[in-house]
Amino acid sequence: MRGLFITLEGVDGAGKSSHTDWLAEHFRARGRSVLHTREPGGTPVGERLREIVLHEPMHAETEALIMFAARREHLEQVILPALARGEVVISDRFTDASFAYQCGGRGLPEARLEILERWVHADTQPDLTLLFDVPDEVARARLAAARSPDRFERESRAFFERVRAAYLRRAERHPERIRVIDGTRTLGEVRTALAAILETLG
Ligand code: TYD
Repeated sequence: MRGLFITLEGVDGAGKSSHTDWLAEHFRARGRSVLHTREPGGTPVGERLREIVLHEPMHAETEALIMFAARREHLEQVILPALARGEVVISDRFTDASFAYQCGGRGLPEARLEILERWVHADTQPDLTLLFDVPDEVARARLAAARSPDRFERESRAFFERVRAAYLRRAERHPERIRVIDGTRTLGEVRTALAAILETLG
């Protein structure tokens, strides 16, 4: 069976993590092996880089390079072997997050990240990306209820508005792969929408 690579994206507080277990169960019920992973992270090296990038102040380009360094390791150690085994890989975030946060949020030119994207995974793109989209106020209200914020979650409202806009631009540019989910709807409504999208995967 062919491997399937699914990524979950959205601003912090958009609600992507509320749906991972349900998604994994959807595929397991159809006899598929599911591997759930995350970025930055997913490997021992990647998890150490995650600690650094989420908590240490640094230049925006250093931040982007660390995201892609962690990603290189993640592909090598986790994603590509699992896809080769025919598994369903569900990753909380992947390269769309770098375009949204490092380009949209921090203002790095997209051309820089396109070089890194070609370098690190020219031949691999997600089969499907679920982009959970919510207005800034909703995301902020959800985050306020959550635990202690990391370096990204402490960013300004303007930062998150740029991140959200960058995600939506990317969805417009890759409509065949990125499906936008209205994250303000109830869990049940979102699941109905997700089920309809997964039907189209065949
Ligand atoms: P996430 O794991 O979604 O946060 P949490 O565990 O707090 O829900 O993501 C961690 C942060 O990393 C998130 O704010 C987005 C950021 N990020 C980037 O800026 N660029 C990237 O390429 C990736 C993968 C994540």
